[in-house]
Amino acid sequence: MSYVLGIDLGTSSLKGVLMDDSGKLIVTKSAEYKIDTPKQGYSEQHPEYWVVALETVLTNLSIEVSDFGKELVGISFSGQMHSLVVLDSNNKPVYPAILWNDVRTTKQCQTINQKLGDQLFKITKNIALEGFTLPKILWLQENEPNVWGQVNKIMLPKDYLSLWLTGNVYTEYSDAAGTLLLDIEKKIWSEKIANTFHIDMNILPDLLESTDQTGVVKADIAEKFGLKQEVKVFAGGADNAVAALGVGLINENVGLVSIGTSGVVSAYESQIADYEGRLHFFNHTVPNAFYSMGVTLAAGNSLNWYKETFGKGQHFNELLSEVYTVEPGSEGLLFTPYIVGERTPHFDSQIRGSFLGISVRHERKHFSRAVLEGIIFSLRDSKDSMESTKGKKFKQLLSIGGGAQNPDILQMQADIFDAEMVCLTIEQGPGLGACMLAAYGCQLFDTLEEVTEAFVHYKEATFVPKPENVKKYNKIYAIWKKSYQATADLSHQLVDFNES
Ligand code: XUL
Repeated sequence: MSYVLGIDLGTSSLKGVLMDDSGKLIVTKSAEYKIDTPKQGYSEQHPEYWVVALETVLTNLSIEVSDFGKELVGISFSGQMHSLVVLDSNNKPVYPAILWNDVRTTKQCQTINQKLGDQLFKITKNIALEGFTLPKILWLQENEPNVWGQVNKIMLPKDYLSLWLTGNVYTEYSDAAGTLLLDIEKKIWSEKIANTFHIDMNILPDLLESTDQTGVVKADIAEKFGLKQEVKVFAGGADNAVAALGVGLINENVGLVSIGTSGVVSAYESQIADYEGRLHFFNHTVPNAFYSMGVTLAAGNSLNWYKETFGKGQHFNELLSEVYTVEPGSEGLLFTPYIVGERTPHFDSQIRGSFLGISVRHERKHFSRAVLEGIIFSLRDSKDSMESTKGKKFKQLLSIGGGAQNPDILQMQADIFDAEMVCLTIEQGPGLGACMLAAYGCQLFDTLEEVTEAFVHYKEATFVPKPENVKKYNKIYAIWKKSYQATADLSHQLVDFNES
């Protein structure tokens, strides 16, 4: 028997998932860290926080799993995307990592758009957003020129853990794609973009596939955690790409809907597709494949806000216990989940949420249902974009996260998406996908399909769309879709008013 370890470097914690070579979960361990916000809109972490968390997880694994050190053969990663790590010539961080959810870079996004125009989208297949890495580089150049002067390499968060474990500097395509410096199609760093912003090509790390080896665990680390054999380390990938692999998104037949704090719809893409910037488009962890992704910023977050505001002290199950008694469409009550702005398809940080159509008939159960429907309508925007561009319909969608925990929400998803909803038997998030990359890298399996068969298992019972509900929802969604345009100007004025 052999073990593989998937390390998911998240925004607030690091989770280690330990699995054996048959795809059986052995144990998970995690360690938390803080986000520093030295100023409004800033979001930073020192890369050392991640190393400390990894050390805690490795210590706990070596204490709790008696044969951990003897059986571990491979490690790989899933990491928070876009966050900028800057290193000096000794590979030491010269500045805290500026995270994906840091929004200090609006001005730099405008500069990128002015200087590159259409070229940016042609090369990277994405548009400039505050969260992406390139605007963070421009911010450092402008605001911390002395720091920028010391930068010898840049990398993404999970690459720093790979460096710590192996001593080697690499990144891989799925995370490089989220920097806005990668030519997505040619799979090379873009000289055009680097030159435009005076970025020396030498500071960009060598590129690997997610399944490629970055090295082996260094002797001192192996000794510290009692690793008895050579442990190979594999490049891993961006969390959304690794999560997609971890649910079996390795062909075009299914799509993925994940309702966490934010909501994500993603689809495997075997070739470049042109979503005209409406969706993110990145390289996948599956070699030479891509994935498209739409993001609703406040999915679970909207439901949480609703519970905290109108059902404080209640459990979700209690709050949602009556939604099944309300007809699809919540008797004319609509909700738009834009409580922290929106990404897909509107890319509007100033839009805000609304309830529309409130009448004397409405009770709290209608509001509860309307919130759920609004979140799913917003995710349908992304799904419909994918389907219309691909010219095909998803018959099945994989559901993970909070949306997969409640049968009423699953039925609503089936009816609103008009697709059969499939859930996993065990959900371990992106850490499981990272285990799969390590298992494939260690050649425990011949193909990623075989790894998927061993590691990913679906529940037999599925949620099937009910034709009469699908019809109703198609009509209501057509009305809901107009709510963005109808409320955008008012929202912007309210945000201005509130902030002035
Ligand atoms: C994706 C994104 C987030 C981070 C979270 O574009 O910004 O999902 O990957 O880690």
